[in-house]
Amino acid sequence: MACLGLAYWTILINFADKCLNPKNRMEPLEIIQKYYAVESDAYRILVSHSRSVADKALTIAKAHPEMNLDLTFIEEAAMLHDIGIFMCKAPDIDCHGSSEYICHGYLGAGLMRKEGYPRHALVCERHTGTGLSLEMILEHNLPVPHRDMRPVSMEEQLICFADKFFSKTKLGKEKEPDKIRKSLSKYGEETLTRFDEWCKLFLGE
Ligand SMILES: [Fe+2]
Repeated sequence: MACLGLAYWTILINFADKCLNPKNRMEPLEIIQKYYAVESDAYRILVSHSRSVADKALTIAKAHPEMNLDLTFIEEAAMLHDIGIFMCKAPDIDCHGSSEYICHGYLGAGLMRKEGYPRHALVCERHTGTGLSLEMILEHNLPVPHRDMRPVSMEEQLICFADKFFSKTKLGKEKEPDKIRKSLSKYGEETLTRFDEWCKLFLGE
């Protein structure tokens, strides 16, 4: 029953995406450039990080033809998943907004909905850690809306997974899974279990 509900929502969101974007084409950098000055450090960091995430996600997706993943969507959504960072306070990466950094996912999702891309918006708001459950949000009193923000579709899960391999401070340097586990441990056991499941699913480890 839950699967049917999920399939229904996926079809509905894809349909809305196609209606809003009839040519079904988009240029992620054009969208990013509406919100970031191209000469800024924030732009350079965002685009470099997002390119690394997109390349990692595409490499994994191409290694799994049986998953029948949407490669165009993966590339676009990976390039846009962090678009909300400029609204957060993170001076180290040239972001000077007022929100806490953990808010960048759902704030970016709001932007993507406004741009007319509800399917990409879900990737933005579902990529923090290995996703934020409503229980985690309430338990830790996180400053984000009270709804489940865990990745659902395979594309959402893959981009969230690929994102964990790249920081925004050591650009282009891929992290080892053990280092990722260490940094994810602050989110608790559920997060670590999810990451290990993804290592098996996507990397066969
Ligand atoms: Fe990211």
